[in-house]
Amino acid sequence: MEATHDVIVAGGGVIGAAVAWRLGEQGERVLLLEREQMGQGASAAAAGMLGAQHETEEPGDFFQLCVQSRAMFPSLAAELMEQTGVDIELSTQGTLRIARGEEDVERLRAAGEWQRATGNRAVWLGPDEVAAREPALAPTRGALWLPDDVHVRAPRMAQALARAARRHARVAEGEAVLAYRVTGGAVEVTTTRGHHRASRLVLAAGAWTGTIAGDAAPPEAVGPVKGQLLCLRPDGAPALRSTVAGGAVYLVPKTDGTVIVGATQEPEAGFAPQVTARAMGQLLGAALDVAPALAGATVERAWSGFRPTTPSKLPIIGPDAEHPEVLWATGHHRNGILLAPVTAAMIVAAIRGEEVPSHWAAFAPAGRREGTLGRA
Ligand code: FAD
Ligand code: GLY
Repeated sequence: MEATHDVIVAGGGVIGAAVAWRLGEQGERVLLLEREQMGQGASAAAAGMLGAQHETEEPGDFFQLCVQSRAMFPSLAAELMEQTGVDIELSTQGTLRIARGEEDVERLRAAGEWQRATGNRAVWLGPDEVAAREPALAPTRGALWLPDDVHVRAPRMAQALARAARRHARVAEGEAVLAYRVTGGAVEVTTTRGHHRASRLVLAAGAWTGTIAGDAAPPEAVGPVKGQLLCLRPDGAPALRSTVAGGAVYLVPKTDGTVIVGATQEPEAGFAPQVTARAMGQLLGAALDVAPALAGATVERAWSGFRPTTPSKLPIIGPDAEHPEVLWATGHHRNGILLAPVTAAMIVAAIRGEEVPSHWAAFAPAGRREGTLGRA
């Protein structure tokens, strides 16, 4: 048995790395175990949208959690720059949810109303205003403008958090957690390299969390929802300023002038990593329908990733109900980049016994409520 740690974190994506960093900063002796390399899972595949308003369909605890985490990004970006020298490329441009038909107009206007009622900015733009703002787009019936739904460069955020974790925790790459046992108020962890013991174990292995065998039964199953994306380089000046979401596609313009086009949702694909012709056809067709000016763009790259998803589509964050030595930090589905900072804060608060906001209870394994709480 190796040395005892305060906390072992299983998984080195944005969630595990953020948790290890923040716990280490608080003086906890943390060991992070990553099966492969830090930050190469879903976190490196993501489009990087901080879509608190764009990707939530109704008010509620989940919406509040997303908005709370989005507000943490300016200071997170500054801290990561200072501690790691990595710029996560936090954008200043928001998101346009465009309407192509009358149904979209009604739906998006209604979304704008409840979002304004919760104190968030959501502005309805008419077709001419949309065209003036984004000339590359096909004609629309208007759009909901969400100035605060900005984005980051997800692989850079994964890299920055990995570096931050290394500064404050011991990180072991190429060591997979196979199983764990709760015994005598501590957790014994078996890995591909041996055994470790800690007061607590945080399960943050993304879509693979369910493959780790242990005493705590997951409050909900966690499995993969495959997503495929591609990256376009426009043939002229940068094609878009804002993130544009419409129909079955989103377009995210990055600071280097490229545009990320995403994404499929393929729960039936399991962990098959292939980039398929069908998905590329769907994404490109939908992208050019929304922004015909991208027709001359070069396809630079295409890739896939696996969202960690629960049946309720809600994350599971906090101590296990039966074995509080084990904490869950998984199931972030489409929003793990957005939710990484608040997840780390929730795990730190749970371990240090701090008082927490009431809306966090909805994501605790113990107090899990029925329903989807606003997930699309
Ligand atoms: P991961 O990043 O997958 O990390 C899990 C880590 O655990 C991996 O490194 C893996 O190797 C490791 N691991 C697995 N098993 C073990 C084990 N047994 N022992 C040790 N380590 C193990 N979110 C947003 O907020 N905005 C977006 O725009 C966005 N776009 C997305 C687009 C796509 C196509 C996809 C697929 C996802 C997108 N997401 C987005 C969701 C986001 O990527 C995820 O929710 C988030 O990255 C999950 O982070 P994680 O750390 O839990 O998982
Ligand atoms: N949040 C974007 C995606 O998961 O595709």
